Amino acid sequence: MRLVASYIACSADGYIATPEGDISFLDRAVLEGEDYGYTAFMATVDTVFVGRKTYDKVASLGFSDPHPECTQVVFSRQPQPDPWLNNGRRIWTATHPVAWVRAELLHPGKDLYCDGGAEILHQILQAGLADRWIITTVPVLLGNGIPLLDHPNRLSDFTLKNTTHYPNGVVQRTYAKKFEVEPTGADGGGDV
Ligand SMILES: NC(=O)c1ccc[n+]([C@@H]2O[C@H](COP(=O)([O-])OP(=O)(O)OC[C@H]3O[C@@H](n4cnc5c(N)ncnc54)[C@H](OP(=O)(O)O)[C@@H]3O)[C@@H](O)[C@H]2O)c1
Repeated sequence: MRLVASYIACSADGYIATPEGDISFLDRAVLEGEDYGYTAFMATVDTVFVGRKTYDKVASLGFSDPHPECTQVVFSRQPQPDPWLNNGRRIWTATHPVAWVRAELLHPGKDLYCDGGAEILHQILQAGLADRWIITTVPVLLGNGIPLLDHPNRLSDFTLKNTTHYPNGVVQRTYAKKFEVEPTGADGGGDV
């Protein structure tokens, strides 16, 4: 079954960026030869969707087509920028992300990757559409910024499936959405 997945990084105090959108704290996670499971994760998805601010940030870093192997969707209520090409694989849309995800889940395919930012992720979380969530926590305190979670108890909707500690202090946690009744034999539990 097609699911919605998110792979996202945050500071130790739960921010995905500074208030100005700076993400240079992620540099603290760089570890030679370590991609934190990103390649394996990307093999499970065929569509990546983001909010316009995340698109702008990634484009400003020189990556206007960061996932050429995937369908890429940018949500914005503004007109598409000139260089953006709506060609079926690159889509710029004012459709509500929740409506778009619900429609997309009816089509066969690999999982859908909610790449953020927080505005888009929060709408997906509030609609109960996030199924699988990989959160990589970088050991940096930002003190303020764009919060990963839309609600302090949000993680109680999820079961912690796996925790990996890296030698540089980075911790990666994998969560799966809780079912109303956990399926028999489910590998539940964890410090959610
Ligand atoms: N740490 C990480 O792993 C990570 C991951 C992703 C992003 N980030 C960072 O997070 C920051 C951006 O996050 P953010 O939460 O501020 O913004 P965002 O979610 O990336 O983008 C918000 C924009 O999405 C559009 N949008 C939101 N809701 C919509 C709706 N219902 N219908 C249509 N369009 C809608 C609007 O674009 P318009 O204003 O154009 O209408 C809105 O301004 C950036 O700094 C980025 O680098 C960090």
